[in-house]
Amino acid sequence: MIKHPAEPFRIKSVEPIRLIDPLARKQAMKAAGHNVFLIKAEDVYIDFLTDSGTGAMSQSQWAAIMEGDESYAGARSYYKLKEAMDGIFGFEFFVPTHQGRAAENILASLLVKPGQSIPSNMHFDTTEGNIRARGGRPVNLVIDDAFDPSNRNPFKGNMDLVKLKDFIEKTGVENIPFGAITITNNAGGGQPVSMQNIRQVSELYHSYNIPFFIDSCRYAENSYFIKQRDPGYENKTTLEIAREIFSYADGAWMSAKKDAIVNIGGFLSVRDAELHQRICNELILREGFPTYGGLAGRDLAAMAVGLWEGLDEDYLSYRIGQTAYIGESLLAAGIPIIEPCGGHAIYIDAGKMLPHIPQAEYPGIALSGAMYLEGGIRACEIGSVMFAYADPDTGKVVNPKLELVRMAIPRRMYTQSHFDYVVDVLKEINEKKSGLRGYKITYQAPLMRHFTARFEPLGVDKKSPHEKVMETKKKTL
Ligand code: F0G
Repeated sequence: MIKHPAEPFRIKSVEPIRLIDPLARKQAMKAAGHNVFLIKAEDVYIDFLTDSGTGAMSQSQWAAIMEGDESYAGARSYYKLKEAMDGIFGFEFFVPTHQGRAAENILASLLVKPGQSIPSNMHFDTTEGNIRARGGRPVNLVIDDAFDPSNRNPFKGNMDLVKLKDFIEKTGVENIPFGAITITNNAGGGQPVSMQNIRQVSELYHSYNIPFFIDSCRYAENSYFIKQRDPGYENKTTLEIAREIFSYADGAWMSAKKDAIVNIGGFLSVRDAELHQRICNELILREGFPTYGGLAGRDLAAMAVGLWEGLDEDYLSYRIGQTAYIGESLLAAGIPIIEPCGGHAIYIDAGKMLPHIPQAEYPGIALSGAMYLEGGIRACEIGSVMFAYADPDTGKVVNPKLELVRMAIPRRMYTQSHFDYVVDVLKEINEKKSGLRGYKITYQAPLMRHFTARFEPLGVDKKSPHEKVMETKKKTL
């Protein structure tokens, strides 16, 4: 059997990329305050910052864009999207949103009151941010295996049912407006959740009358993992699997920028008519009329096509195989990653790779910085910068358990030669890693600081060679 299936497409349109020289990379990094989010995309060679909105759309999606109906209300493109929504997710109601966090914002504004808690396996950053912005508390109850990078549990995104039951009992149902689960678990290595776990989590929430929502950004990848790894599902289609997943939930939200392979878009779906009405009222205030929800008609049209394409099994086997290719190559080179390989990204265990850089000096920032300086590769820290927070009860800073660097792989965008290049760069960094130093933060925002924080390298001689020469000259004069 072929281990890593080749692309089930050929390339019709190309976008040039270039590797700027090492000095220019150094200058770009300095100008960005050592935060890769603040580097110009043009100065990046291989961009693994995110798989969100960065995929290559298909010819069918571009064709759909030309057929987009821009009517303000009741556009044809909305009804195309509705067909996909009904066929795949099967909720009674949905509204489009401009992206995932808009759906989160609406849900949090309607349901979360200060002091209330929202459990999930793990919330991602925008979900956490939106819950905290309403005074709520995001709570992560993933199984402990998720924190052991080399543990090869096939469903490391599963929620811990004992922890969940315990948490509900201790917190009280009245303090939990809804419960969630994220598929796949982005904050914990892009790891899937099993069908059994989704069903049991649903039963548990429902036994307490807590509504159950699915953060479904990568539902198609999760469905494919279930097909591959969950006994009894090998002969089901990914569509059948997706339908079963959502049959257990009372609602879902999605950033369509992931598994629907569009550059912009999202949705919020529910079963409850009264909640849907309140969502529409909020939507009109923030996003737009309920049949376009912050998107152009052409975006709705591209999303309608992308939702189906994202479930295509030839595409998914290539996609998951591609991620595994890069992950296995890194493991073979002795670079620690979260195992088994996730769906949309490879997560390098920066804490383990750089044991000489303490958590307080952000090993993930050191590694992502080195990847840019060494090879023009942009990847994202998923560690203390992104997820440390002050405990609302004690005021103490709580750091995440792992310091990771995520290489998120845009869909249908890069080829195996790009991956070979990335692996070579990482091998080089690995050889001279003892020279890497930590960082300190010089600016941070109160919420989601990773996007705009600025850093300074620690313990390095900050003077340039030119400055040093000038200094010696001054001394000798
Ligand atoms: N939920 C999950 C699990 C996500 O991964 C994201 C986005 C969102 C919600 C929010 O969606 O960006 O459309 O507003 N994750 C991106 C990432 C940004 O890089 O992983 P959005």
